[in-house]
Amino acid sequence: MKLNIAVLPGDGIGPEVTKQAIKVLNSIALEFNHTFQFKHASVGAIAIDETGNPLPDKTLDLCKSSDAILFGAIGDPKYDNDPSAPIRPEQGLLKLRKSLGLFANIRPVKAYESLLDKSPLKEENIKGTDISIYRELTGGIYFGEKKLNEAGTEASDLCIYTKEEIERITHLAFKAAQARRKKVTLVDKANVLESSRLWRKVVTEIAPQYADVTLDFLFVDNAAMQLILNPKQFDVILTENMFGDIISDEASVIGGSIGLLASASIGNKYALFEPIHGSYPQAKGKGIANPIASILSAAMLLEHFGLHTEAELINRAVEKSLELNITTPDLNPKNNLVTTERVGDFIQDFIVHPEDTNMNFTNIHLGQSTII
Ligand code: IPM
Ligand code: MN
Repeated sequence: MKLNIAVLPGDGIGPEVTKQAIKVLNSIALEFNHTFQFKHASVGAIAIDETGNPLPDKTLDLCKSSDAILFGAIGDPKYDNDPSAPIRPEQGLLKLRKSLGLFANIRPVKAYESLLDKSPLKEENIKGTDISIYRELTGGIYFGEKKLNEAGTEASDLCIYTKEEIERITHLAFKAAQARRKKVTLVDKANVLESSRLWRKVVTEIAPQYADVTLDFLFVDNAAMQLILNPKQFDVILTENMFGDIISDEASVIGGSIGLLASASIGNKYALFEPIHGSYPQAKGKGIANPIASILSAAMLLEHFGLHTEAELINRAVEKSLELNITTPDLNPKNNLVTTERVGDFIQDFIVHPEDTNMNFTNIHLGQSTII
């Protein structure tokens, strides 16, 4: 298969983790005879520095003419504590999502066997957790009208949804559930918010079309608690934009590190793949950022194009790296010898030699191998 992939590494650790994902995609291309062409463009704080615009037209055009987008991270501390900044890096990502119509953000959350002890949550509670969060991505409070009065003393953000916006992601969530454990949980705040009541109505109306799927509902405050108390009860979580943003960061605690969580943002025409973590500016250039979220996002990209065997091989390589503790310090605080680059090398090596024994991999880990 031939794919043109736009690469938007962005800010902070974005470039270094994306580099590992590209490395892994390149080894997949070699092993399976695909042609992946990568074209880079800037976005975020770095694009503001270069052009004054967090999403330059050139970047948007490249995305539109590509088959898929691999995104790094966005954000810079110099904007975080300046509420009056008129231009912000995050606007680049939000505009990109909106312009490309990426309405569904899919965030898988899994408790890896080998990492059960890395989570602050009890092993017996998280063991076996496998959730797919369907977060609506181009509506709600993120994109509703924003107001600030002239005196700068009153502000509002409108949370607005249309029936159509709810319908299209709901169908995707139900279809996903049909291929999984056949349960959708709608997370909302229907006891308070009118927009949530519309979500309940629309989702309830659609449910009978997927008779094999059970639908249940949770208020978001309760869902936040249930995710920690009993995450195994969830299969597909369907929710609006901001609730999805918040609960997906929360859910990352189950996996042991936010550095593991990948995502796919899908629309009718375009698809973008990005880690859920931010730009982690404190780690930039130190070689300590976990590249797995970016690498797993690349696997989701392959999955999106039906390259299941390839995606599965990456998933296996990641699992093997976790099993062998070839992980960055977020998961392995006692050992900071395993760098971002090294995790990428290991995963690349596994793709080329998946049949090698654990012994060899352990040797690679110890730096005794001549393979890499
Ligand atoms: C995410 C991020 C973004 C969001 C930010 C960077 C705008 O937190 O993708 O979860 O809030 O959607
Ligand atoms: Mn977020």
